[in-house]
Amino acid sequence: MGKERVAIIGSGNWGSAIAKLAGNNVKKHSDAFDDSRVPMWVFEEDLDIRVDLPPFALVQYEGRKLTEIINTDHENKKYLPDVRLSENIVAVPDLLEAVKGATALVFVMPHQFLNKCLDQLEGKVEKNAKAISLIKGVGVEGSDIHVFADVIQDRLGISTSALSGANIANEVAIDRFSETTVGYRTEEEGQMWQKLFQTPHFKVQLIDDVAGVSLCGALKNIVAVAAGFIDGLEYGNNSKAAIMRIGLLEMKHFCQEFFDDVKEESFLQESAGVADVITSCLGGRNRKCAEAFVKQKKPFDELERDMLNGQKLQGIHTAKDVHIFLKARDRLGAYPLFDKVYHISWEGLPVEKLTEGL
Ligand code: NAD
Ligand code: 13P
Repeated sequence: MGKERVAIIGSGNWGSAIAKLAGNNVKKHSDAFDDSRVPMWVFEEDLDIRVDLPPFALVQYEGRKLTEIINTDHENKKYLPDVRLSENIVAVPDLLEAVKGATALVFVMPHQFLNKCLDQLEGKVEKNAKAISLIKGVGVEGSDIHVFADVIQDRLGISTSALSGANIANEVAIDRFSETTVGYRTEEEGQMWQKLFQTPHFKVQLIDDVAGVSLCGALKNIVAVAAGFIDGLEYGNNSKAAIMRIGLLEMKHFCQEFFDDVKEESFLQESAGVADVITSCLGGRNRKCAEAFVKQKKPFDELERDMLNGQKLQGIHTAKDVHIFLKARDRLGAYPLFDKVYHISWEGLPVEKLTEGL
């Protein structure tokens, strides 16, 4: 079997962190991967970069393209500053050029932009390629729901696994000990993805559960928004622990009600389940912005713009998608926490109502 040629599709906060690991690992496992070049698709933008000019420390701003910055300075100064990427990570602004010849595709963009990418990629990827989705969210159309690994697999006709876990990108990027879960399509593919991502500080567990791993990653973001509301209300740790427990149960019921063959271990024994609920409710962006939503009384789109410097929130959108789906299935009453998060985020329900009736 020839060497895998990796391409990374996405270059935000998590995309850049995972590029750092993959760029180093293809060199470490050069028997399995082409280590010379790992293209990373970058949604191009211009940045104003501050340059201090000695001796008088004159401050100037220089307009540069993000791809040019990544390829010259080997750092994504906007989405993952102060973390060095290895030199084989090559930022490419053209999506089709980035995936040309690639046999291992890593999808890692905010879910809002996936469909537009797939429109471009359909019929254009290598026939023997495999993919993995690191995207947290679900695709909903009325009473239909799909995890993104299935969406990618169906639209591109390539076997697609899923990776998700307790993985705050900034911590993974600086080698703080973390774990993650790969839900694989075949064990062989699982082992290939493990080789691409695992380091002594980033442990990759394998499980035969693409749907469970994907759904945990999506649904925990709704729970993290609820945890942020609790912080905004200053209700304390007991309340937050209760939200995590109730949230995890709703996640599990949801998966078991609407998906066949989701494994119990994904929730309770894997990083993708309980561990991601905990880290996201303590430290994630969804939690942070939900707390600010309560304290600053500003809408989420404004908070995202002010607080995240171009990074994207997922939880409120997943809450809306799940609401549309549950309404179409007439099952809203069975998921009171998910429903409250939707109504507070999108319909003006007072946040104090969050815990009522839970
Ligand atoms: P991010 O939140 O940093 O989003 C910014 C990215 O979106 C940038 O690459 C930007 O170029 C891109 N973008 C902006 N507008 C765009 C457009 N119109 N079209 C295409 N791209 C556009 O992204 P991220 O943190 O890499 O998250 C990607 C996925 O990984 C999400 O599903 C997220 O839930 C998941 N994830 C994130 C983290 C984390 O800690 N950041 C951890 C685990 C999983
Ligand atoms: P946030 O998007 O809330 O930062 O969560 C990141 C994450 O998925 C951690 O595993």
